[in-house]
Amino acid sequence: MADGNDEKQRQLDRYRVDSEGSRLTTDQGVRVDDTDNSLSAGERGPTLLEDFHFREKITRFDHERIPERVVHARGAGAYGYFQLYESLAEFTAADFLCDTSLRTPVFVRFSTVAGSRGSADTVRDVRGFATKFYTRQGNYDLVGNNMPVFFIQDGIKFPDFVHAVKPEPHNEIPQAQSAHDTFWDFVQLQPEITHMVMWLMSDRAIPRSFRMMQGFGVHTFRLVNADGRGTFVKFHWRPVLGTHSLVWDEVLRIQGNDPDFNRRDLWEAIERGAFPEWELGLQLVPEEDEHGFDFDLLDATKIIPEETVPVRVVGRMVLDRNPDNFFAETEQVAFHTANVVPGIDFTNDPLLQARNFSYLDTQLIRLGGPNFAQIPVNRPVAPVHNDQRDGYNQRIVHRGRTSYAPNSISGGCPMSGVLSGDMEGVYRHYQERVDGAKIRKRSPSFDDHYSQATLFWNSMSGWERRHIVEAFLFELGHVERRYIKEQVVQRLANVDGDLARQVAEGLGMPAPAVTTPNHGRTSPALSQANAPRDSIA
Ligand code: HEM
Repeated sequence: MADGNDEKQRQLDRYRVDSEGSRLTTDQGVRVDDTDNSLSAGERGPTLLEDFHFREKITRFDHERIPERVVHARGAGAYGYFQLYESLAEFTAADFLCDTSLRTPVFVRFSTVAGSRGSADTVRDVRGFATKFYTRQGNYDLVGNNMPVFFIQDGIKFPDFVHAVKPEPHNEIPQAQSAHDTFWDFVQLQPEITHMVMWLMSDRAIPRSFRMMQGFGVHTFRLVNADGRGTFVKFHWRPVLGTHSLVWDEVLRIQGNDPDFNRRDLWEAIERGAFPEWELGLQLVPEEDEHGFDFDLLDATKIIPEETVPVRVVGRMVLDRNPDNFFAETEQVAFHTANVVPGIDFTNDPLLQARNFSYLDTQLIRLGGPNFAQIPVNRPVAPVHNDQRDGYNQRIVHRGRTSYAPNSISGGCPMSGVLSGDMEGVYRHYQERVDGAKIRKRSPSFDDHYSQATLFWNSMSGWERRHIVEAFLFELGHVERRYIKEQVVQRLANVDGDLARQVAEGLGMPAPAVTTPNHGRTSPALSQANAPRDSIA
């Protein structure tokens, strides 16, 4: 076990139970001599209600399942550590990004998005890449994906999007595939999805291994330094093994042969000491440059081209220990974009704002009430003291007479901050000026849905383009309604005429009228950009 995990590991050890070799008991600690035969009235008689061992055993079994995640249900996780190369104190007050001597423990969960818990690993889908940093200032979660952009711009559309991607409601078909009418109907009706669909039809959607996958925070976040100065930031994880994908033919065979292909690969690599490693990169944008781009930094369907803002590599993460128990750790881990530490803050990206509501809300039901931060994998290593009380699954015995603040009877938890004059380590929200009328209307700066889709296509090599066209043909080939296919092809004409023509021909449809793919908003900097820098091997 590497020393980076020590702090978290010591905490986890306190909650570990090793039952192997111990004598069988009930949950009440009463020893049991027979767990094969229920208590009955005579050898061939009925089972007796008073058989508390039988009832407890069956009840516990009946209640084993909790709801799977509403998205990202299938995943695999591991522990490890993060270490910084250079201090970022100029940009952030987060001490794990300032102190290069720290080894911050982490837990990472990789996932597919659409499939259920029992679905196959190697489907065409986005992969989740969620990292929990157990920092000395509290937990920080970077809840990202393996693609740098997203399907929608505003989180209010997330339920519509997920309902379109998930199996259709009447027959639960198809599992974990984007090859169906509802998904492509959403695509043809929502042009903002076009850039992400290009990524989804590319080989990025079929990663060879979690160890060979990039990760992206997707949104523009904000770093805030000790003086309160903000800097926009995009987060990137770069796998030291390089970015590698499967090819479609392999995918089809692997799904039948080994549906656990990706999770097995991660588990076995860690067991044999081939610890996967990623470097953390940042794209930093000074606040005053916020409006210097031909797209909106708050629009999660856009990358910041690396030619415009290079990625600065600032640290590395190593995963070096498998969990002891899948359910307790990988299934019960709870990531949340709103878990931030001093020095990291949000922007007004409407997708991020929605996420900041959604994760806590869903975890309240998924993990049985408000006390899930007490589950060992979710506990911060930073001390937790407050007046939150009670609720389902309360595991902590709070001592003392009072649970309110301020209070004059027992002192309670004195507030740090302005009242006490003690501001050390306090989370201070970035003081962004906000004013405007209440409106339900997207900013026109979010209007260009095609330029970066075109950039992506232009950055692909010949064989990468061929794979993309084949992916469109496979997926759209499963769509029943002809008008949906026609509309999708029409959208592709806004991306690239040749792409649209190849897809149309492959589907046996006439080539669409080609729109000139200069969408009126492409800057010189953007037009030279090449979205995916790493080649996909
Ligand atoms: C789960 C990423 C957008 C709601 C997840 C997970 C990841 C992720 C990685 C799995 C976490 C885990 O391993 O436990 C992203 C990214 C997004 C995005 C990168 C866009 C940039 C959204 C939006 C919403 C949302 C817009 C809702 C408004 C959820 C929910 C879960 C989830 C409810 C399940 C959480 C749980 O049950 O613990 N997301 N997501 N996501 N996401 Fe997102």
